[in-house]
Amino acid sequence: MDKVKRIGILTSGGDSPGMNAAVVSVARCAAQKGLQLMGIKRGYNGLLGLSENPEDDIEFMDLETVLDIMDMRGTYLRTARCLPFLQHEVRVEAAKNLKAQGIEALVVIGGDGSYRGALKLCELGIPCIGIPGTIDNDLSYTEATLGYDTAVNVCVDAVRSIRATSRSHDRPAVVQVMGRNCGDIAMRTAIATGAEMVIVPEMEWDMLELAERLKYLFQKGNTRATLIISEHCWHKMKPFDWRKTIADSGRVIHEDDPMNADRLALVLKILTQTEARATVIGYTQRGAIPTAYDSALAFDAGRLAVDLLTKDENTFQQGHAIGVRDGRVFSMPFAEALDENRKKFFDENLYHLINNL
Ligand code: ADP
Ligand code: F6P
Repeated sequence: MDKVKRIGILTSGGDSPGMNAAVVSVARCAAQKGLQLMGIKRGYNGLLGLSENPEDDIEFMDLETVLDIMDMRGTYLRTARCLPFLQHEVRVEAAKNLKAQGIEALVVIGGDGSYRGALKLCELGIPCIGIPGTIDNDLSYTEATLGYDTAVNVCVDAVRSIRATSRSHDRPAVVQVMGRNCGDIAMRTAIATGAEMVIVPEMEWDMLELAERLKYLFQKGNTRATLIISEHCWHKMKPFDWRKTIADSGRVIHEDDPMNADRLALVLKILTQTEARATVIGYTQRGAIPTAYDSALAFDAGRLAVDLLTKDENTFQQGHAIGVRDGRVFSMPFAEALDENRKKFFDENLYHLINNL
């Protein structure tokens, strides 16, 4: 294959702090090597040629404009979940559109779903390089993903403030963080803030044990204990009739009301006779300005992406995912990075340590 001259870049899945910095890095390194860069809008949607104005799908990214997005939050290219892309015929059209635009290779910034899409584009003759862009840190092949460090810092900041007001009022706090099915944000936040309890989707947990621990801490004089919960931890709750607990306390609860942070705080309040309160940190984790770590990771990843596309033909034709190992960026084939036999490491000892200290 001849050397590539024009590459595309897109952001896909949930946005994550550092995505813009990665685009800037790719743009700078591409310009240095004389490559043209095309920005594809709204994830894989931009490849489908559906917008009335073609510029709403794909735009030429000149270096001057791109440098300006470095300080912008969110993702300049926009992002989206593109369900039609799950269909083979749609991907064939997308590959055709790319070729028609002279785009010979693609940098995809996103999570595992976006990588699956990229792997399929590689099979259609569009080599792709993946940069892990997700706050969840849920990719098993890499130590870090773009945005994870920032999300943790947002949570740590919030929890420190919450613990201050909790102390003022002698009341416990329940704080919900994001992470989808990965408890990394919750665990890291718990360690960094000294939170006394954490529950995550990786581990079963027991409501009565939580309540006992909270009571114990309260009696020992820790009247502002913090419980960090990861958003999808509910399915790991051991059977417990929390609706009955709420109903027995004289409050209204319906059969189909789901468990959530507020209800968990309420159940703990009832079981422990404390004034537990809940906070959901939410999208502030995604819209934050990237930390220095994430900005630097974005730079290193963007640089490696361009290197792979220009130097190593065999590597980029099968598609590679960039990751972090021993603190340094590296890459491996998508198929390997997505291998379901590789389990994401979860530190159970640390989990028990946090919950028992
Ligand atoms: P993330 O990349 O953060 O994991 P999603 O799982 O929502 O986010 O995936 C983002 C997009 O990637 C999807 O909307 C879809 O366009 C594409 N995608 C996901 N899974 C596949 C798949 N198996 N085949 C092709 N495309 C996929
Ligand atoms: O994958 C990033 C993430 O923020 C998850 O932590 C969260 O579960 C999900 O996206 C929320 O997605 P949405 O933007 O669709 O609400």
